[in-house]
Amino acid sequence: MADQFTSTARNPRSRQLWERACRVIVGGGQAHKRPVKYMLRGGPAFAARAQGAYFWDADGNKYIDYLLGYGPIVLGHADPQVNEAVIRQLNAGTIYSVEHEASVEVAEALCRTIPCAQMVLYFIGGSSATQGAIRCARAHTGREKIIRCGYHGWYDWCWPQMPGVPHHERELIIAVPYNDLPALRAAMEQNAGQVAGVIIEAVQGDGPAGDYFPGVRRLCDEHGSVFVLDEIKTGFRFALGGAQVPFAIDADLATFGKAMCNGFPAAVVVGKRQFMEKRTDTYLAATFHADALSLAAAQVVMRQMEQRDGPAHFERLGRRLIDGLNGVFLDKRLPLKMGGFPAMPAPMETSPDDPVNPVPPEFKGKTITEFMAGLQNRGVYATGHPWFLSLAHTDADIDRTIAIAADAADEALETLKDVASGRREALPYS
Ligand SMILES: Cc1ncc(COP(=O)(O)O)c(C=O)c1O
Repeated sequence: MADQFTSTARNPRSRQLWERACRVIVGGGQAHKRPVKYMLRGGPAFAARAQGAYFWDADGNKYIDYLLGYGPIVLGHADPQVNEAVIRQLNAGTIYSVEHEASVEVAEALCRTIPCAQMVLYFIGGSSATQGAIRCARAHTGREKIIRCGYHGWYDWCWPQMPGVPHHERELIIAVPYNDLPALRAAMEQNAGQVAGVIIEAVQGDGPAGDYFPGVRRLCDEHGSVFVLDEIKTGFRFALGGAQVPFAIDADLATFGKAMCNGFPAAVVVGKRQFMEKRTDTYLAATFHADALSLAAAQVVMRQMEQRDGPAHFERLGRRLIDGLNGVFLDKRLPLKMGGFPAMPAPMETSPDDPVNPVPPEFKGKTITEFMAGLQNRGVYATGHPWFLSLAHTDADIDRTIAIAADAADEALETLKDVASGRREALPYS
């Protein structure tokens, strides 16, 4: 199939590895997260190495990286201080049969930094942290139903309709839209006395309306449900203490992961003491929880992010990126816009009734992918997923990205016209 598409010259090694991967790895890899469609337009499917704000693909092409492993890299790839701390820890052992001082130090730092944090539970990966949070909510309330809003990982309760998930999850999990208090109120009322917790991904799209989280807080209090804020993406980026700082969100529990360890896998549930201190009543332990390498990395991340004011850096560079790219889109009449927040800029297609730059019907649903393919072909790695920045990104990277975006927009428009007229193969756009 790959040969039907263009740009084969840029990524022969990626394509070759992909063919091999598809024979032995289900779906060729983490295909839900790492879309291979870009490979069909010349983008990378395999990385070889990474340093600072950049990575190099298996064909030797260099990219400014705005996905950063989907968010964990916050200081920069292969950060020298993280590496030094982790190598020191490697030489002192990676996992022990008893506790380790670093777990206390990191927990103390988290409790100093995150407004709702009075106690900490360690996990591996964001999915296991969100699972831990809903277990805590259920244990605390003795109830079973969970209202969820946003992406929370891959566990059964996150995907009640998926093949392989027991049918009863559908009765226990209720999904509601973001920023929709009437929908949340209705779900709480229809399930009165049964809702253990409400878990919400902190920042989605253009963020919370002013009355949203105060309303969530009130509804949770009225119904005796635990309010869990999912900060796996936003933690350490919107502020060191997460999005709960700038948006003044009063959550009972919160999940943090990704950026906490600059690429190492620990994640945590933090929260108010009364929701956590009795949780030895349920089982939340696993072999690799609080692994020493992640904790060594977390100590460096928290110190560096504070000393160098990481969130201010993201705010400044992210604002430049959003404004610069929006200028390009208008100038080129490419129907896209960068929305979201400087800490997490989010590309969106414009709507057909946008007064200034509407998406034509024949481009609908395709514009983001073709623009990102154009960026990737020129050495900027980004997709339709919200973008991330690291402390290693510089003003020069932003300037270069905006300059490249103009050419990528031209290429995207050409491709979109060719796809619309059937001169060029359409990608699997979804
Ligand atoms: C808001 C949110 N919660 C939970 C998760 C799951 O984290 P992980 O992929 O580390 O399991 C993610 C991952 O992208 C996320 O963005």
